[in-house]
Amino acid sequence: MLTEREKLDAMVRLGIELGQSKDLDILMEHILTEARRFVNADAGSIYLRDHETLVFSYAQNDTLQQRLPPYEKLAYTNFTIPIDENSIAGFVAKTGRMLNIPDVAELPATVPYSFNRSFDERFGYATRSVLTVPLCTADEDIVGVLQVINAQNENGKMITFPPDEERILMHFGNTAAVALERAQLTRNMILRTISMAEMRDPKETGSHVNRVASYAIEMYERWSRKRGVDAKEAAGQRDLLRMAAMLHDVGKVAISDVILKKPGKLNEEEFDTMKHHTVFGARLFIDGHSDFDRAAIEVSMNHHERCDGKGYPGHVDVRTGLPLMGHTLQDGRPRGKSGDEIPLFGRIVAIADVYDALVSARVYKESWDEARALAVIEEGAGKQFDGELVEIFFSSLKYIHLIQQRYLDKP
Ligand code: C2E
Ligand code: SIN
Ligand code: SIN
Ligand code: FE
Ligand code: FE
Repeated sequence: MLTEREKLDAMVRLGIELGQSKDLDILMEHILTEARRFVNADAGSIYLRDHETLVFSYAQNDTLQQRLPPYEKLAYTNFTIPIDENSIAGFVAKTGRMLNIPDVAELPATVPYSFNRSFDERFGYATRSVLTVPLCTADEDIVGVLQVINAQNENGKMITFPPDEERILMHFGNTAAVALERAQLTRNMILRTISMAEMRDPKETGSHVNRVASYAIEMYERWSRKRGVDAKEAAGQRDLLRMAAMLHDVGKVAISDVILKKPGKLNEEEFDTMKHHTVFGARLFIDGHSDFDRAAIEVSMNHHERCDGKGYPGHVDVRTGLPLMGHTLQDGRPRGKSGDEIPLFGRIVAIADVYDALVSARVYKESWDEARALAVIEEGAGKQFDGELVEIFFSSLKYIHLIQQRYLDKP
């Protein structure tokens, strides 16, 4: 439990800290972790507004988490509810008012909302006290709803949320809303850049890049835990990886539609041109010096390298595309990177990208069934792909499938 003094300190720090996560998913995790710590809640969720609906977007639950094997996480999906007075979250989004409910099992008959039991039923959880606040910016935009569930005292005994925590959580919601709005803008800007630049193929929309980025994060999380990477460091890296992975193919902006949209197989010359998308993409970030620019270059340059050295573009200068000193083969081509010469983010995105490309339809191919795609990944272990990361990919498969449901292709 935090003391009042600690809460005050934490609140001051929070605005600054939340400003540092640029990615939406990672920001939501940060917000909910902090909100729950503030009010000592066992569980919580975040709903984000999408026009006239709320999307259940993120959840944490300590009790359910403890029932899972180490490193597994809650396998929930993103459902949608209308913004109206029939549900607790809907009511809060609709009215902009906070609700502090001592026990959802004993709602008075006079209230318009009822409690949706589907989450409890599905996971075998018992929701009692629920404090729900709007995520509302200074200009009154409702970005979403923040819900903390099952307050506990110092001894872990269930209590109701004390009224003096209402204001602090409302304030928390305002701070979080500003950060969320900015993260949504950033993500939308990346998505717009991509749809303008690369995905001139209407079949390949933002869903592909969102999926590839989410798979990549999933894999990085496991990898970093396995390696014992410090949690703060890992959170920063995930933030970078998510955005960089979304931009992995942004260099396709420089590839003509004749090649990019060719319905059939590319000939050798066309494919050689296509390979330039790696270097072209990296160049977009070459004048930037932020960690983000470096991550975007790393992913763009390395997502088509192969562990056996047969990938592309190989050891080349990002500015010129020419082989780096000492890396020219006899035929004048650059030597491919191999093994650990390929940076981690590149090795991760390589697997995420190929898997998603295989199970998706492209202008040049039908979608493959899951088993056939998985066979390619499995057979590629130690050749096309990093063997350890292939293992990590397979152990993440359940979450990979949840991500697919979350980011469906537009029909
Ligand atoms: P992409 O469509 O995003 O595909 C990414 C990667 O997924 C490919 O990288 C490849 O490693 C893998 N992949 C996709 N389809 C298949 C497949 O049928 N079998 C196997 N084993 N792997 C597959 P790659 O080959 O370096 O291609 C890079 C990009 O070049 C592709 O991105 C796509 O935009 C374009 N491309 C590749 N081949 C063709 C083609 O035959 N026709 C057209 N129009 N574009 C192609
Ligand atoms: C990179 O950061 O991957 C570009 C430098 C190189 O190709 O070795
Ligand atoms: C490349 O293939 O690396 C890009 C070609 C160029 O130098 O513009
Ligand atoms: Fe690519
Ligand atoms: Fe791709």
